[in-house]
Amino acid sequence: MDTKLFEEVDRYIGDLLAPEDKALTESLQSMQEEGMPSISVTANQGKFLQVMATLCRASSILELGTLGGYSTIWMARALPENGRLITIEVDPHHASVAAKNIARAGVSGKVEIRVGSAFDILPAMIDKGEGPFDLVFIDADKPPYAEYFQFALQLSRPGTLLICDNVIREGRVLDAGSTDDRVKGVRRFNKMLSETPGVRAIIVPTVGVKEFDGMALAVVL
Ligand code: SAH
Ligand code: DHB
Ligand code: MG
Repeated sequence: MDTKLFEEVDRYIGDLLAPEDKALTESLQSMQEEGMPSISVTANQGKFLQVMATLCRASSILELGTLGGYSTIWMARALPENGRLITIEVDPHHASVAAKNIARAGVSGKVEIRVGSAFDILPAMIDKGEGPFDLVFIDADKPPYAEYFQFALQLSRPGTLLICDNVIREGRVLDAGSTDDRVKGVRRFNKMLSETPGVRAIIVPTVGVKEFDGMALAVVL
């Protein structure tokens, strides 16, 4: 694969259409300083999420997996004045770094970070009758992606867009014998997605400055 060309094209697109402001650059810096993994979405993927939020006129967004708030900031910036984004993060250290980054980006009034496992928080949200959300971005731990998607469906309405990150894993999803729990998790998720009635779905492969991967997009019918 000509990965250098993919990187250069991704930078070309980003320079034109997804330039980072100071708050986004400093968010990535803060994550490095805090020893957090470099697994935020790329700038172009952040802009993609923002375009999707605008397309569905999202005023309520749910995110699973905050990390340092990088994707959160991109999406929150597409919200109207009264819009709200709830982001769920299991690691209190990640959540506290994210809170600072979100504040620096000027969107803390629209963003609520819930600290805990999505696996516990989502059923509690369903019980409380929270939602429906206009857009859901699933980007937490990969093994329970299928369960997260089913929970997210219960927090949705017809027209809700669900986006799931990292469902191709450099093509390792092709390996039916993979012993990697993340690959097994997204393989199970992709299969389940293909068998879920009531959604219209596709997977968009992504190449660029980060590894070859893909995002699943599903619209609730
Ligand atoms: N969406 C972020 C990246 C998220 S990385 C961005 O693109 O900027 C995945 C995050 O999910 C990590 O911060 C990890 O701590 C968190 N996570 C892992 N397991 C989780 C769980 N069970 N519930 C909620 N968050 C979880
Ligand atoms: C991993 C998680 C992510 O959300 C991502 O975008 C890339 C990698 C991981 O856990 O390996
Ligand atoms: Mg991801």
